[in-house]
Amino acid sequence: MPEGTAEPFFRRRFDAEPAHSVDCGGMHERLEPLFDLSDRVAVVTGASRGLGRAMAIGLAQAGASVVVASRRLDACQLVVDEIAADGGRAVAAAVRMQEPEEVAALVALTIERFGRIDVVVNNAATVLDRGIDGVDSATFMGAFGTNLLGPLLLVQAARPLLAASGHGSIINIVSIAASAASPGRYLYPPVKAALAQVTRSLARDLAAEGVRVNAISPGTFRTDMVQKAFDDTTIDRIASATPLGRVADPSEIVGPALFLASDAASFVTGIVLTVDGGFTA
Ligand SMILES: NC(=O)c1ccc[n+]([C@@H]2O[C@H](COP(=O)([O-])OP(=O)(O)OC[C@H]3O[C@@H](n4cnc5c(N)ncnc54)[C@H](OP(=O)(O)O)[C@@H]3O)[C@@H](O)[C@H]2O)c1
Repeated sequence: MPEGTAEPFFRRRFDAEPAHSVDCGGMHERLEPLFDLSDRVAVVTGASRGLGRAMAIGLAQAGASVVVASRRLDACQLVVDEIAADGGRAVAAAVRMQEPEEVAALVALTIERFGRIDVVVNNAATVLDRGIDGVDSATFMGAFGTNLLGPLLLVQAARPLLAASGHGSIINIVSIAASAASPGRYLYPPVKAALAQVTRSLARDLAAEGVRVNAISPGTFRTDMVQKAFDDTTIDRIASATPLGRVADPSEIVGPALFLASDAASFVTGIVLTVDGGFTA
């Protein structure tokens, strides 16, 4: 299995026999599969690689039509081709998340192609960071534009559609770096902390519209972002400090994302779900 595929989680689509039944006061009721996303549409940003790619493939395998978005249309198209080869439905979209017109165009494309939006995964991010003496207005705007303004713009534009869905779910990808001191890093951890805070406020604001809003806080996953930020020695040190004894494969984000996206999490809103192998426990 190539690294980063969601294969271990979804060898089949959820169109087989319902997996659950429950005894309700003598009445046996069959429950529809809780994780089925058939007829739902998901927009995943930063889906050209890494965690976004894994989530896009996983959501498609659960039945969703997926918009695979990032700055690079060609890279997104490769992910779309993978999804299509597996029998799924997806479309590629080029977007710079810090640009309001491009985010609006992303939502317009989604409507044109699939007619609805049920799930938004705000995953695109830059790892751009600076020490205290390196922060200036350009680097600040770069980090906060992609990692915070982008998710806010997408929620703004998609909000009426998510409300109309009846199953609206927003998933913001934050980081365990957001909840502890990160000496020498004055952009990425603060912006992820802000996104976690936005998640809680949005959960309150959108609850009346039937839209759930949650965050996933990943520990260390082997992606381009991590390979760029850390050398092998650092990654080994993180693995040793992790109770499960390793860093994660991108496919391991799929289960948590599918849970929050689907009706399995119908009463879950406003949480930050940590997925870090016990690192922060
Ligand atoms: N990997 C980890 O261990 C880890 C840990 C904690 C949190 N996270 C979070 O998890 C998410 C995914 O991380 P990753 O490791 O998969 O990162 P990655 O490999 O660097 O991928 C980042 C994605 O974001 C896209 N992107 C970057 N800037 C963009 C922009 N301005 N507009 C639109 N798309 C943009 C990139 O695509 P293009 O280059 O094609 O635009 C790419 O698809 C991020 O939110 C990250 O902060 C990751």
